[in-house]
Amino acid sequence: MVIGVPTEIEPGERRVALVPETVARLTKSGSNVTVQRGAGTAAAFLDSAYESAGATLAADAAAVYSVADLIVKVQRPSDAESAMLRDGQTLLALLAPLGDPASVEKLAGHKVTALSMDSIPRIARAQSMDVLSSQANISGYKAVLFAAEHLPRFFPMLTTAAGTIPPAKVLILGAGVAGLQAIATARRLGAVVSGYDTRTVVKEQVQSLGATFLELDLGIDAEGAGGYAKALSAEQETLQQELLAKTIAGMDVVITTAAVPGRRAPLLVTEAAVQGMKPGSVIVDLAAETGGNCASTTPGEVTVAHGVTIVGTTNLPSTMPYHASQLYSRNVYALLQLLIKDGVVNLDMNDEIVKGATLTKDGEILHPPTLAAIGSKA
Ligand code: NAI
Repeated sequence: MVIGVPTEIEPGERRVALVPETVARLTKSGSNVTVQRGAGTAAAFLDSAYESAGATLAADAAAVYSVADLIVKVQRPSDAESAMLRDGQTLLALLAPLGDPASVEKLAGHKVTALSMDSIPRIARAQSMDVLSSQANISGYKAVLFAAEHLPRFFPMLTTAAGTIPPAKVLILGAGVAGLQAIATARRLGAVVSGYDTRTVVKEQVQSLGATFLELDLGIDAEGAGGYAKALSAEQETLQQELLAKTIAGMDVVITTAAVPGRRAPLLVTEAAVQGMKPGSVIVDLAAETGGNCASTTPGEVTVAHGVTIVGTTNLPSTMPYHASQLYSRNVYALLQLLIKDGVVNLDMNDEIVKGATLTKDGEILHPPTLAAIGSKA
């Protein structure tokens, strides 16, 4: 069986789906791996490392697609890439079906078997395959570094001959995987950190990282199915925005990570709240791609509104492509252990993980994009 790794062509995407470490493990266990020349270069994995790991190098994407039984990618294929897919081929990528249900129909039209790394149910047995966690961890870390870069102040408290510098005050909104990593990273840089989430169950996790948990009385605990947050009502959302604005006014940095699966990101920071911040403050909006947690965010751009720098940079994992690729690749490898039997792709549709990840099989849509796959978290 041939596993093909094409170069990612989405603008700004620097990750590669398989790194040499994983290629070596796959070739040792009998798979052939064909990698497009230069596929790992942007992530600092050279062609020579892939060759040493036992991969065959292909001159272009067409050469990869034509020989591979299984294509492993990071991003959903473009129309041009999809045109290279053939009947019976298997595709594994971050297909994000909830964000674009029509793309699943397109893949079915190409008669491929398509599995989405981000549709794997987040059950305990699938933790090693959890790309949402491995990549969100990177986003949380990088969000703090972006904030520190744009903030015209120190993060840590410093006692110098020229006087004492007080530590930066940082508020992290949303304490899921990205938010908790942002809290930990901001603390390591010496900031005074507060964390907030509508799921009060995370209070102890926030505090265990040395941050203060911000309590807002919205009259509910928004813990929903599978450990995810429920959406707030319009009244609760307005109340939340008003209460948050008071705290936000005293912050140097606000990092927003709030998400409700399958919905537009909740609006937490209104324009009035931005206006209430000190000049030079920074907001990093990790939800920029799904509508933004901040009203003033422009996705993909760093802007200044009312003297506040707002970072709307998207695809943060791609800004740290070496480790993002390494972790993604390990997640893929863990899933491949379930998919490859006797040297070929053999899907056991009775396995909850395989079933959750498989969107189309031989051109048939198995399940429309729903939240079912993420509703059974351990
Ligand atoms: P996510 O990316 O869906 O959301 C990020 C955070 O935003 C969540 O903590 C959510 O509660 C919060 N949020 C939503 N609406 C909000 C609002 N209006 N105001 C403030 N915060 C709001 O979440 P993520 O990072 O994917 O993790 C969600 C949960 O899943 C966490 O409890 C995490 O620990 C858990 N998890 C469990 C796994 C497992 O058991 N295998 C694997 C990964 C995560």
